[in-house]
Amino acid sequence: MPGHMNRTKASKKIPLALFGLGRAGNIHAGNIEKNPHCRLKYLVDEDVERCHRFVEEFMSEAVVVKASEADVVYNDPEVQGIVVTSPTFTHPDICLKALKAGKDALCEKPVAADMKTTALVYDEAEKQGRILLCAFNRRFDPALLNLEERVKKGEVGQIHRFKTSSRDSPLPSIEYLRISGGIFHDCAVHDIDECLWIMKELPTQVHTMAHCFTPAIAELDDVDTVSITMKFPSGAIASLDLSRLSTYGYDQRTEVYGSKGMLLNHNTTPTGLHHSNGSGETAQPIHHSFPQRYAASYRGELVHFLNLIQGLEEPRIVKKDTLLSSHIAEACEESHRTGQAVSLSYDHLLTSPPAHEKGGTTDVGSVPMEQDANAVATA
Ligand SMILES: NC(=O)c1ccc[n+]([C@@H]2O[C@H](COP(=O)([O-])OP(=O)(O)OC[C@H]3O[C@@H](n4cnc5c(N)ncnc54)[C@H](O)[C@@H]3O)[C@@H](O)[C@H]2O)c1
Repeated sequence: MPGHMNRTKASKKIPLALFGLGRAGNIHAGNIEKNPHCRLKYLVDEDVERCHRFVEEFMSEAVVVKASEADVVYNDPEVQGIVVTSPTFTHPDICLKALKAGKDALCEKPVAADMKTTALVYDEAEKQGRILLCAFNRRFDPALLNLEERVKKGEVGQIHRFKTSSRDSPLPSIEYLRISGGIFHDCAVHDIDECLWIMKELPTQVHTMAHCFTPAIAELDDVDTVSITMKFPSGAIASLDLSRLSTYGYDQRTEVYGSKGMLLNHNTTPTGLHHSNGSGETAQPIHHSFPQRYAASYRGELVHFLNLIQGLEEPRIVKKDTLLSSHIAEACEESHRTGQAVSLSYDHLLTSPPAHEKGGTTDVGSVPMEQDANAVATA
């Protein structure tokens, strides 16, 4: 039994601290405030005014802490878990300090901007016997959970095609895009993780075509429109369609097509109502952005984290999942930059011992050996 499964169910509200009250932080902080099994003890941000406004709005009891004074949080033995929703480049430092202080961490994707650092943070979690949960929110979406379950049961038969459309709305700020890590690591990782989770095999080849329609994004050496094709050992082909630019709402669709049929996860609207008359059919615009579309996922993610803290569940997303999606995202970006298809190998992800056993050096390869190279952990 893993160490964290020996924990006991909390009899009182689990004290949490949240780092970074921006777009993602507001969702998680609001969910913590509304969840009866936890409480927000600290809100940490560089912008303390933003935190004070939140405290006032939610009548929160959270103590506001400036980012540069976060030691008070790490040194507070009462804090059991931290939720990291600060910019990606700050994740490793915050997670490492919290893990070393004996706290569990729910960290927004990606855990780090590169695979070596990602592995280092996971190895520290393992060394400390703490949880590190990377927040791939789609794994908690009720529709996608149902789709994954039904694909697993064989309802579409042998998978021939897997398709996602992920078109962002609204266009993130240039300040955010500058430190986002680029569309492959910031956005495509969601689609790649979803694809591996549902397909349960690893692609052997990827080919990317991309373009940038937005001059300000091109100046960052990034792109806003991406088409990724992935070929799997079974013969299945995946197509991932990404855009930063959707003008009609947050467009999120998944299709799995196979020998026995198709499962399709359509866009949803705030009310789901359609109006039909002699002129045709009208519906509300689809959800505006991720806080609305994935509201249930973020709540589910927090519940899962609280269950992990109490040892009531096994983690649905583990180190290997995070490293694989980063590895494939890197290959997709390489294909875009070279114009060539990229062949993928996973051997190096399956052979190296954990980084902390090698005197603190990091290696992309610290993935459990018992895993089959072409198998992906199921939820
Ligand atoms: N899973 C999802 O759906 C999703 C959606 C959006 C963003 N994200 C991820 O969440 C993270 C944050 O993105 P965002 O869009 O919310 O960014 P944001 O810029 O809106 O917010 C970041 C916040 O962190 C604060 N901050 C900066 N440095 C800090 C530090 N050292 N300690 C504490 N707070 C600090 C900033 O002042 C700001 O309030 C990114 O890693 C991003 O990839 C995930």
